[in-house]
Amino acid sequence: MPERRPYVAANWKMHKTSDQATDFVKRLLGRLPEPAMRSVDVVICPPFTSLRATADAARGSRLRVAGQNMHQAESGAYTGEVSAAMIEDAGATSVVLGHSERRQLFGETDEALAVKVPAALAAGLEPILCVGETEDERDAGRMEEVLERQIRADLANVGNVQLDRVVIAYEPVWAIGTGRTATPEQAEEAIRFIRGLLAGRDGAVAERVRILYGGSVKPENADELMARPQIDGALVGGASLDPDDFAGIVETAAVA
Ligand code: PGA
Repeated sequence: MPERRPYVAANWKMHKTSDQATDFVKRLLGRLPEPAMRSVDVVICPPFTSLRATADAARGSRLRVAGQNMHQAESGAYTGEVSAAMIEDAGATSVVLGHSERRQLFGETDEALAVKVPAALAAGLEPILCVGETEDERDAGRMEEVLERQIRADLANVGNVQLDRVVIAYEPVWAIGTGRTATPEQAEEAIRFIRGLLAGRDGAVAERVRILYGGSVKPENADELMARPQIDGALVGGASLDPDDFAGIVETAAVA
């Protein structure tokens, strides 16, 4: 089985100005030993307005930067939107797509994601595709159905060669920002199911794709999650706003 390099991403959501982002990066880099940075992909996802400052502060380090959303078109009359090329121009290598807050609060659809994911790849950005069920869906025993629908639709226009470059985050909606973390067993079960879906397309690629867990990850619970062989890292919201907490999670991933 191939060794999957751990991946830890900080989803800042609508937090941090440029100055705050710069300060965070300096403190994070001061805190993280070089070996941890060498063995883990560490990615910061700031708001668009702080992308450039974050990328500038990270220059010369292995730290990478991602957008939190993008429009699928190269340019055009799309007020308030940002293209893949613009995100790259600001210094990012990656982009979060399909976060549940986008799906629930801003009308993001699987149809749009089916176009956004290949558009990001075509522009050279690494998509971090978020999928996950709501509490009602889980309680109704529909978790697998929801994950299957999202994975199939969102990756429908991505070939198997390109699939290798996609990072997936399993984020059960009921665990996001609630302090209610999925148990390691629940997270692993869902991630194994997602990997099985990918294996239906290409077994070797499915073994290589990094699948993260997200939802109330904190320094205190990161180790038991990261210790699970199926869980390749974390997409961290609230706990990523503090450089010490986030560094603790990265270090856990480095040793897991
Ligand atoms: P949380 O957010 O860690 O604050 O639950 C995770 C996410 O939304 O990606």
